[in-house]
Amino acid sequence: MAARDKRKADENNIMGKIVSLSKRRGFVFQSSEIYDGLNSCWDYGPIGVELKRNVKNAWWDYMISRRNDIVGIDCSILMSPKVWEASGHLKNFTDPLVDCKECKKRWRQDKLEDPTKCPDCGGELTEARQFNLMFKTFMGPVEDAGSVVYMRPETAQGIFVNFKNVQTSSRMKPPFGIGQIGKSFRNEITPGNFVFRTREFEQMEMEFFVPPAEDEKWYKYWIETRKQWYLQNGINPNHLRIREHEKSELAHYAKACSDVEFLYPWGWDELEGIANRTDFDLKTHQEHSGKDMTYFDEQTKEHYTPYVIEPAAGADRATLAFLLDAYDEETVAEGDTRVVLHFHPNIAPIKVAIFPLMKKDGLPEIAHKIEEDLREYWATFYDESGAIGRRYRRQDEIGTPFCITVDYDTKENNTVTLRYRDSMEQIRVNVDDLFETIRKEIKNYKPSFKN
Ligand code: GAP
Repeated sequence: MAARDKRKADENNIMGKIVSLSKRRGFVFQSSEIYDGLNSCWDYGPIGVELKRNVKNAWWDYMISRRNDIVGIDCSILMSPKVWEASGHLKNFTDPLVDCKECKKRWRQDKLEDPTKCPDCGGELTEARQFNLMFKTFMGPVEDAGSVVYMRPETAQGIFVNFKNVQTSSRMKPPFGIGQIGKSFRNEITPGNFVFRTREFEQMEMEFFVPPAEDEKWYKYWIETRKQWYLQNGINPNHLRIREHEKSELAHYAKACSDVEFLYPWGWDELEGIANRTDFDLKTHQEHSGKDMTYFDEQTKEHYTPYVIEPAAGADRATLAFLLDAYDEETVAEGDTRVVLHFHPNIAPIKVAIFPLMKKDGLPEIAHKIEEDLREYWATFYDESGAIGRRYRRQDEIGTPFCITVDYDTKENNTVTLRYRDSMEQIRVNVDDLFETIRKEIKNYKPSFKN
């Protein structure tokens, strides 16, 4: 398999290329585009939605379906406002906001290199004031203080308030986890970098409840385990690192936190956070609700409040990282380059494309039949338009790992051409062996990187 060319991210304006490829090929569109868009809001198109679903499915499989110590949940976005009072979000979920006295632009002070000057015009900045990031709305027809509700800023709280429901109904014993994938909302001061920081986004979070004495052990375990997930799904190891938070950076609930960081085109930045939330959340909900949130250990006959280790990932941010690492422009021959996305087959939006060499002589019928058979197992795509080389290139651009071409020999000996996206190698395979050949290729897939 050909190793991919070195990605010179900044030199090649990779973000611009990803944004334009996303629109051209149906990964991501600007929200409300016909009305000039809505700042920081994005829509996933037909190919992008498959990619993001595969990312979420890969997370769910790895974190929940394939483990017997973690279960899932799907909570509502709107919750009692008492939740946010108890969790500390009403008071503490803030970012320091500064305004430029000259150009009136707003900035997040903690993200500025010089916190006294406007990065755009050099103007003087106001004193910082704490800005709460939660979106507010009203429940029911009357818009008064009593009907205020918040759009959840993290999926985690739905898990904490359901701790007892899940633990008793599923008869789970610590160490055990509860995972959730869903939308969260934050009124970010400075959203940007495409889907990296938006005001509406999807989180993939898991709260792992452990005996207090085991917190450090599980904290380390989850940092390593989460890192492995990104590597298994095709992130370049040289683009991934773990960064432990300084004490001053820690959220109000955390004893320790490490970020899985990714090398984005603008430098190292957060992909996922793994926090030791201690017993903060269960205890605060116990205090505020008056309900028992402890676990009763049958063996020791003691009640205790479990500690929580939380790997919290963003589905959009992970999708962006997979897109960035997959993107490549390769020189195929002199004067001929191809854009190719080297997605791991697990997350590739389309796994197999099927082409008849010609639109006649019974070839489309054979190709349709192959597509129907394979569609039972994988997302497939049928294409009969244009030269075969162009059809391959169109699939390269959306990262389809396997293409099958039905030609005249197929009618003679029941074989087809199987073409590999990464190496562009072509082999002949008997139609009856296609499923097994592709299944093995997906299972044994190893990404290769140069940089
Ligand atoms: N429950 C803990 C928590 O929410 P966080 O670090 O604030 O922790 C977890 O968020 C993950 O959610 C981040 O690592 C990131 O991937 C994603 N995320 C957070 N804010 C985001 C935003 N404004 N846009 C896109 N993704 C975001």
